[in-house]
Amino acid sequence: MSKTYAPPADMAANAHVTEADYDKMYAASIADPTKFWGDHGKRIDWIKPYTRVKDVSYEFGNVSIKWFDDGTLNVAANCIDRHLAARGDQTAIIWEPDSPDDEALHISYRDLHKATSKMANVLKGLGVEKGDRVVIYMPMIPEAAYAMLACARIGAIHSIVFAGFSPDALSARVNGCGAKVVITADEAPRGGRNTPLKTNADKALAHCDDSVQALVVRRTGADVPWSDRDHDYNALAATASDDCPPAEVNAEDPLFILYTSGSTGQPKGVVHTTGGYLVYAAMTHQITFDYHDKDVYWCTADVGWVTGHSYIVYGPLANGATTLMFEGVPTYPDASRFWQICEKHKVAQFYTAPTAIRALMGQGDDFVKKADLSSLKLLGTVGEPINPEAWNWYNDVVGGGRCPIVDTWWQTETGGHLMTPLPGAHATKPGAAQKPFFGIEPVVLDPTDGSVVEGNGVEGVLCIRDSWPGQMRTVWGDHERFEQTYFSDFKGYYFTGDGCRRDADGDYWITGRVDDVINVSGHRMGTAEVESALVAHPKVAEAAVVGYPHDIKGQGIYCYVTLMSGDEPSEELRKELRTWVRTEIGPIASPDLIQWAPGLPKTRSGKIMRRILRKIAEDDYGALGDISTLADPSVVDDLIANRMNKG
Ligand code: WT7
Repeated sequence: MSKTYAPPADMAANAHVTEADYDKMYAASIADPTKFWGDHGKRIDWIKPYTRVKDVSYEFGNVSIKWFDDGTLNVAANCIDRHLAARGDQTAIIWEPDSPDDEALHISYRDLHKATSKMANVLKGLGVEKGDRVVIYMPMIPEAAYAMLACARIGAIHSIVFAGFSPDALSARVNGCGAKVVITADEAPRGGRNTPLKTNADKALAHCDDSVQALVVRRTGADVPWSDRDHDYNALAATASDDCPPAEVNAEDPLFILYTSGSTGQPKGVVHTTGGYLVYAAMTHQITFDYHDKDVYWCTADVGWVTGHSYIVYGPLANGATTLMFEGVPTYPDASRFWQICEKHKVAQFYTAPTAIRALMGQGDDFVKKADLSSLKLLGTVGEPINPEAWNWYNDVVGGGRCPIVDTWWQTETGGHLMTPLPGAHATKPGAAQKPFFGIEPVVLDPTDGSVVEGNGVEGVLCIRDSWPGQMRTVWGDHERFEQTYFSDFKGYYFTGDGCRRDADGDYWITGRVDDVINVSGHRMGTAEVESALVAHPKVAEAAVVGYPHDIKGQGIYCYVTLMSGDEPSEELRKELRTWVRTEIGPIASPDLIQWAPGLPKTRSGKIMRRILRKIAEDDYGALGDISTLADPSVVDDLIANRMNKG
């Protein structure tokens, strides 16, 4: 029995959702989703109100997901304009720059309205129209939020590419969605170093159509190369009008595309639409974090990930919240930065990833204790399972034992939280994502035959029975891949790719991916992507990539590499391959361990037995299982003998 932590009494009494509310609301949401979401859809403003709520088919071959589909609205008007009367002077965004010596900005809803409208007019001036795609490749600066909202304002579809991705990854995404414009910045300051973002964008755009234009925000003012396709954002904004009427957009028109890794092939463009996504992001933001007026809320993610979309920008701003945006890293100038920022801006809700918690825990308690964290009311985590040790440290040292922890389980595909304890309703359990959000019906399936596993104290693969408004609608340009990935293995359900356990109390624990996706520092990585980057190197004949347990990152990247005959293994080649993968994909894909593998364990039909490679990487030989079906079982002994020392 794990220890549980009851909600603080004041939160239990005043939360948006209390314990009694949860059970009632949850039952109602499952019994009659149309009624439930028909009511909650009214959280946001509609230009033309919907009369239809839900129109969904999970039938393989015919999957179609629509919510509120005869309604029209504008996301930017919901995130900005509708707050102007009551909160024009309230801070919408607090921006904390990389260096604590530079001044933070407090951007009011009125300022945000002007800045977004200007950006929208600049985009229009470049020829961007409703339905056009705009790629955003930006540092964590206010202009990144303006860019997202400006696209939403004119009905353009944004696709954010994390600024840590390589030029190759960027050009693939620009071409993948046929973007008209790439919005970038001269440089991206992070941790005291400036990444040459514009130079990276130039390298990417060299592989894109000449018609693609670049809009360049001046962040550092550095001298950067300039060409005919480039436009200076600051110069254009200086003269652009700050009046731009919001476009009327259908609920099912795409709001954004966000590429994410899967178990096969190259990353896919997850498509989120307008109405249902905003309802779901706003509702989960308010309820999961128990956000109340005047709270300063901080999510430490980057807008390059879905967490930044839903829980830095769209959810909080739709709720008229004050959301903090941080340009830097947790360890610059030192490991107290997060806590200094919480003190400085009196943060009430703090939301980060287990990998950051583990890294900061390793720096000792003093960095936390020297900050005044009395403003904190709630802590959140996201991205990977959190180990009890990190949970306890977060709870005791950061939260002072006063702040409930919401362990939010969700995915790029889900748009918002699908499982989390609610801070005023549930006694939390360290490491459990615990309870489904409203409208979410988790189903545990037996992976071997797909049958439903009933009862408590059980384990299996995690599927979701029905749709919710924040669900992705398709893969950009490839609806068949959408159906294949999420609806083909277990017919009639949305398949999450995760395994889970339902404990004796009926609470859920996520046990990790059951496919060839690994989770490195909360970033999702397809092993197939790293493999295809490796085999693109002229000296690599074959590669197999698996995850292994890593103290800080959660999982590390373990690569087995077979060289071309005639090429010799060496330390230099190891370094070269590491650099190679970083340039092909980006630093987050950097291999941790590379083992030279003269042979890989394959079945007689030539299929690589990853199960065995995973076990070797995990240092778990006892569980290798049956290897007699291998074409050449002796390769296993060689791999074990030469296994890389994890240090
Ligand atoms: C995968 C989704 C959702 C935003 C960040 C990651 C894992 C996510 C948790 C959690 C255990 C988690 C799952 C999921 N995951 N949150 N609280 N506990 N695992 O989004 O890149 O789409 O990755 O992250 O494995 O499938 P993503």
